[in-house]
Amino acid sequence: MNSDRSVEELRSALLGWYAKNRRDLPWRRTRDPYAIWISETMLQQTRVAAVLPYYERFLTRFPDLESLASAPGEEVLARWAGLGYYYRARNLQKAAQSMAEAGRFPGDYETIRTLPGVGDYTAAAVASIAFGLPHAVLDGNVFRVLSRLRADPTDISSAKGRKHFSAIADSLLDREQPGPFNQALMELGATVCLSKNPHCLLCPIAQHCAAKRLGEQSRFPVNRKKQVSVKEERTLFWIERENQVLAWQRPLTERLMPGFWELPEMEQLPGIKPGRVLGAFRHGITIHDYTFSVVQCKPPVAIGCCEWLPLSGLGARPISTIFNKALKVVHKLARSAAAAGLQSR
Ligand code: ADE
Repeated sequence: MNSDRSVEELRSALLGWYAKNRRDLPWRRTRDPYAIWISETMLQQTRVAAVLPYYERFLTRFPDLESLASAPGEEVLARWAGLGYYYRARNLQKAAQSMAEAGRFPGDYETIRTLPGVGDYTAAAVASIAFGLPHAVLDGNVFRVLSRLRADPTDISSAKGRKHFSAIADSLLDREQPGPFNQALMELGATVCLSKNPHCLLCPIAQHCAAKRLGEQSRFPVNRKKQVSVKEERTLFWIERENQVLAWQRPLTERLMPGFWELPEMEQLPGIKPGRVLGAFRHGITIHDYTFSVVQCKPPVAIGCCEWLPLSGLGARPISTIFNKALKVVHKLARSAAAAGLQSR
């Protein structure tokens, strides 16, 4: 598969497949580097389905560099709330401020790469998709496609492995159409060359795939540092008084979700007496698989770092996804209590 002809065939099969089968996603209807940069930042570590509603809302509120640069930081965070990895939102605004000052979005890979929050992946994605520049992207999907294509056992978690696959991606890149080619490889990884049960019968480049020939698709990619998840149980306190709930705000100086509101745990209210369990939910953060129980308590005498927040005004504040999930538990319980009350009348 190394001959020029074979590489040409692979490019053309992949691009032909992409033209026919690509998902119609809003960031694929534009060449605006600002919009593409926002979408690629949102797509870091986050699935397309989760990004879609955020992307539309974020771009409606912040349609260009200037609007994002001049927005209150709290509002940018509030519009990001739920997407996770909040340093991305802070970096977006920092980068927007520096670009707004320079008066434009930079049009070359090297300058794009210097922006806060922009790594090799995002710089290559924006440079190729928005500006048609020949930079190959490497993300989890591309690692999987390339390692299978070559049945390549190089460890993708090592710096050496990343360099190795970066050279392969670069050698395959279609220099005439780098944007569509990069997106086609990612799309193939996201929809056909799946980690488990890949759809090889639908794959446009199956006849080039060494892992398929060997029947060893599941052996690739090799990732020696693959993390196992860590299970943990935690308790959130639901303390309500006169249509207000007790919550605390993360300091603005914190790296993790600064300015976000959270429900208190034992750490915020050390002496509290737990009451009845209202419900529970799961929440994953990186390798942590948490089960949160929501426990009702009576208002304590001392509220420590907490504040009383009116329940009706929660929508306007940046509240964490965990807080939001707890709210859903409480609302659900209130709805079933109301329904039971109606039935017994
Ligand atoms: N994943 C991240 N960015 C993508 C894109 N532009 N196309 C397909 N998958 C992606």
